Amino acid sequence: MRDVAVIGIGLTNFGEMWDTSFRELCVEAGVKAIEDAGLDGEQIDEMFVGNMSGGRFVLQEHIGALIADYAGLATNHIPSTRTEAACASGGLAFRQAVTCVASGMQDVVIAAGVEKMTDVSGGETTDALAGAADREWEGIYGVTFPSLYAMMARDYIHKYGLTREQLAQVAVKNHFNGARNPIAQFRKEITLDVVKNSTLVADPLRLMDCSPVSDGASAVIVCPLERAHEFTDTPVKVLASTQATDTISLHDRRDISTIDATIAAGNRAFKMAGLERKDIDLVEVHDCFTIAEICAIEDLGFCKKGEAGKLTEEGYTALDGKLPVNTSGGLKACGHPVGATGIKQVCEIVQQLRGDAGKRQVNGAEIGMTQNVGGTGATVVTHIFGRT
Ligand code: COA
Repeated sequence: MRDVAVIGIGLTNFGEMWDTSFRELCVEAGVKAIEDAGLDGEQIDEMFVGNMSGGRFVLQEHIGALIADYAGLATNHIPSTRTEAACASGGLAFRQAVTCVASGMQDVVIAAGVEKMTDVSGGETTDALAGAADREWEGIYGVTFPSLYAMMARDYIHKYGLTREQLAQVAVKNHFNGARNPIAQFRKEITLDVVKNSTLVADPLRLMDCSPVSDGASAVIVCPLERAHEFTDTPVKVLASTQATDTISLHDRRDISTIDATIAAGNRAFKMAGLERKDIDLVEVHDCFTIAEICAIEDLGFCKKGEAGKLTEEGYTALDGKLPVNTSGGLKACGHPVGATGIKQVCEIVQQLRGDAGKRQVNGAEIGMTQNVGGTGATVVTHIFGRT
């Protein structure tokens, strides 16, 4: 297998993008990544596009061909494939691109992620998202994503005594980071009281415990590490790329407040990279709800089960903490256009390792990690990156 490097990144703003179409969003991110890599579009050999539900949100399928066409690459007849694993669709697109280059099949590959969720009503969005769970055993009984994660939160609170303040601190921290990210949907800081007094969505989760409904796109270009300096002075090496699955329905799990696929993907990633937890300088985790960040920190092995709430409260995961978590603002404040999220996480780590993260820069960041979750943990994709 060949070593792989990220040579270009591109992001649109995240939020309610009523003036920009689905295809325009994706092409904007792709063009930015191509410019960032100093490439000519003609040099791209293959494309992967992460998208969860174009069919439900914008009535559009056949996304791989659509994006290749509107990027001006269809007349070159490059292979272009849509990847789908619910909210992990972007992480999966990136993993496909890495695998494609590592195998020697292609040299210059672009992975993009896109979702436009705000063109349909809130009810339709919630129902489309529920398709990431088991429709026959969960969705059909009215279960939604906020309610699934609320059950996980209830179980976690019962077992480990997590406090309302500790859970709320995840949102406060991520809004603090989002306020320093120019592409974030919510660029304003909030207090513990704002979280605690926000509208109840699914007990115990309140509005400010939830990621929002968002539009946005992201793109990343990879090539063999040995060619990276042809394009950029600051390539970022992919040290590990792993994926794991679990039961799709929550009730079939061994433990509903532990995401076993995160444990499996994380362990494989550390083994592949030959690194230990203490080597990681920062991590972007899938905080679709505040409880998900708490579980992710523990299931990736950064602390024992039941300890992440206390660590969050003590500032361990803050921007200036020992292990900054979600410096982008996470899904909570940066926004969560589901197909784009996994690649936005990669873009954030690349910006940090290049030293380009501005007001949210983690000093001396050399090794970063991403964790992207599909559904309640039926798919997890993790990556580790290193500064070269
Ligand atoms: N965090 C902070 N503010 C939010 C927010 C969030 N998650 N969601 C909405 N808001 C704000 C809006 O900006 C708006 O503010 P304004 O009045 O100042 O303009 C206000 O709250 C009302 O927005 P609205 O769109 O009417 O909210 P809603 O009640 O329809 O939706 C949720 C709120 C929480 C139900 C929705 O964001 C949601 O479903 N989130 C979860 C998405 C999800 O499940 N993703 C997949 C995860 S696996």
